[in-house]
Amino acid sequence: MDMTFLQDLVCPCCGAKFILDIRENADLGIFGLMVCHCDQYPIVADIPIIIKGKIEPSATPVELIRRLIKDNEFVEALLHVLLPSPGRSVVLPRWRRMIKLKPVQSLIDRIFYRRFAELWRRKSRSRLRSMFRAGSVHDLLTWHFGEDGTNNKNHQDYFYYRFSQPRHLQALALATLFGRDGGQILDVGCGAGHLLFNLRCWNPTARIIGIDNNYFLLYLARHRIAPDASYVCADLENRMPFPNQAFSGVLAVNCFHFLMNKLTCASEMQRVLGTQGVIVLAALRHSLYPALTHNRAMRPEHYVELFSGMPYRLLADRVVLQRYIRKLAPDIAVTHGAMDFTQEPFVSLVVCRDEKVFREHAPFTQWPHGVRHQSINPLFVPDNGAGEDCLRLRRKFPSEFYVEENREILQYLPDKVDVPRSVLADNAAGKDGAGLEKLVADCVLLDMPSAYGGQSMTS
Ligand SMILES: C[S@@+](CC[C@H](N)C(=O)[O-])C[C@H]1O[C@@H](n2cnc3c(N)ncnc32)[C@H](O)[C@@H]1O
Repeated sequence: MDMTFLQDLVCPCCGAKFILDIRENADLGIFGLMVCHCDQYPIVADIPIIIKGKIEPSATPVELIRRLIKDNEFVEALLHVLLPSPGRSVVLPRWRRMIKLKPVQSLIDRIFYRRFAELWRRKSRSRLRSMFRAGSVHDLLTWHFGEDGTNNKNHQDYFYYRFSQPRHLQALALATLFGRDGGQILDVGCGAGHLLFNLRCWNPTARIIGIDNNYFLLYLARHRIAPDASYVCADLENRMPFPNQAFSGVLAVNCFHFLMNKLTCASEMQRVLGTQGVIVLAALRHSLYPALTHNRAMRPEHYVELFSGMPYRLLADRVVLQRYIRKLAPDIAVTHGAMDFTQEPFVSLVVCRDEKVFREHAPFTQWPHGVRHQSINPLFVPDNGAGEDCLRLRRKFPSEFYVEENREILQYLPDKVDVPRSVLADNAAGKDGAGLEKLVADCVLLDMPSAYGGQSMTS
């Protein structure tokens, strides 16, 4: 854990630096309190929680977590912030779900509901405890989003099969505008840290920070997906806990349109950006394309207006992706007018005071999604056929919804592929054997964290 990162944070409410009261620093990470002039914020398993009120997604009051940490109940504190707040139907046992008669349902629930909830809690906690140290990304996602958790298979698939998604790749293409030689990069609404993982591979000396208000996703990022980055659990509708001009790059992927208070977040992104820094809002939903829009999405030009006269470029994500799959970096020489986007489901906005950024960038000499640790994309499963020297793989999508949401993936992910075992052996030995380039270009092999789990096959 990077202690200087904690020391650099400032309270968003009183502006003071924190005095750190570290209580525990063992295998689950750092636990403690960050004390300022106005409050005491908890640190749970390396993640400072700079929130007043309730912590998402468990809806646990910060006050309770603070008390548990003061009482040295560290595991309890972690369990409380990780346990999802389940829907009513989730805690009901199967036999109760089968009862269809309304009066009988309500009678049973009146008598037993609290007991069902308690049983669900106990079962869920014991599964979670067993996963603290050894559970893979797949295990944790299944536990959290599965039938006994928040019961949201589409969210589970979004995060598990994220690394080759069109919106991930085009965001990664735009993130390369931050350069490869260090700096300090902030991912706003970083989710489970997939982009931070790729950024770490691309720019190993950068200091990388993610901020999100979902503790479960941050835990996954910090302890499984991108452990070399630092994280803060905080609400983007408020001031961010960073000093002015702290970052050389600030990025938000598939997040900004969800916010209610966009003006505060945009002002904060500008405040924490260094004078030469670049802001990227990638995978923005917008209201000129109503079929896919989100009810808080705005017109593209209204996103631009939030960045108070700074030079900018608006781009169609489709075009960024088209270039990316040909190994071309973004061309941000010119901007487009809002009406160019009526047929575009997603747009991106790049903002920078230094106009030199706005040019056609040189082609990639290396695939940003294939720098090191290449593993087989979990969207591929073994298929029959091929000989002893080859592994035959078949593309398998998790659902119709996934295909609908990620239709452009059909343009670059092959439906069948034979992977020579010699290429896998070379890759495992860290050699750039012939044949590897094509498999990486097709996203059959890509950079992935270890301990990803599930059906993913190591290379
Ligand atoms: C669709 S996910 C995208 C996650 C990640 N950027 C990615 O591309 O995989 C949207 C993220 O925004 C975060 N988010 C939404 N509203 C937020 C808020 N008010 N404060 C902090 N994070 C927020 C969510 O918790 C979630 O992680």
